[in-house]
Amino acid sequence: MIKMPEKITTEKVILERPNPITFKLAEEIYAAVDKSREILNEWLPWADATTSAEAEFSGFLYDYCDKKWNENSGFAYLIRDAETGKFLGVIDVIEIKESSKSAEIGYWLSVDAEGKGYMSAALKALENEAFKIFNRLQIRNDTQNLRSVNVAKRAGYKLDGVLRQERWLEKQQRYGDTNVWSKLKSETE
Ligand SMILES: CC(C)(COP(=O)(O)OP(=O)(O)OC[C@H]1O[C@@H](n2cnc3c(N)ncnc32)[C@H](O)[C@@H]1OP(=O)(O)O)[C@@H](O)C(=O)NCCC(=O)NCCS
Repeated sequence: MIKMPEKITTEKVILERPNPITFKLAEEIYAAVDKSREILNEWLPWADATTSAEAEFSGFLYDYCDKKWNENSGFAYLIRDAETGKFLGVIDVIEIKESSKSAEIGYWLSVDAEGKGYMSAALKALENEAFKIFNRLQIRNDTQNLRSVNVAKRAGYKLDGVLRQERWLEKQQRYGDTNVWSKLKSETE
């Protein structure tokens, strides 16, 4: 059975399972989503639909994070600044395929946490644990989402290919081309 640690600590960031789930935590995450809405909406369809701390509480924390952690079918971490404890964003392991030991990584940062290397640090921290379990990690992003593309490139992911016009981007009113990036365990050794 695939199981990730509930807390990963580094000098720069701490990744932790949202546990216990409290309304205060939901308010903290919702405040970050709300102030980052303009950027998140460009690429992540859930952002527009997240309109209250109540939705964050039941929809994201319970139905998404907790359910998946309990089923070992997905592992979503809150990213916090290791020094201040400030909530910075989320990184998660999804699309887990036990037979091929592969999974996908998704992520987002609060707008005021961008440009400081937090996501690169969070990805590195996650990989250190994930490659003890998985053979292949994948990142998908829109070819025009340059910040996300740079996260994958900076971390040494290789471009497997592009899924052409694979998604509808409502905000941009266009079909999006999706990059598929991957890193193999053997590439970390
Ligand atoms: C994608 C996203 C997480 C990238 O955030 P980011 O801050 O650009 O990425 P990082 O945290 O790795 O930071 C890299 C930036 O910090 C700078 N930086 C500072 N110190 C750094 C360090 N120690 N290590 C690496 N980068 C550092 C880099 O130069 C880079 O800045 P630049 O892009 O201005 O050159 C963020 O833009 C986001 O959440 N976007 C909206 C949601 C989204 O698109 N999610 C992905 C969907 S596929």
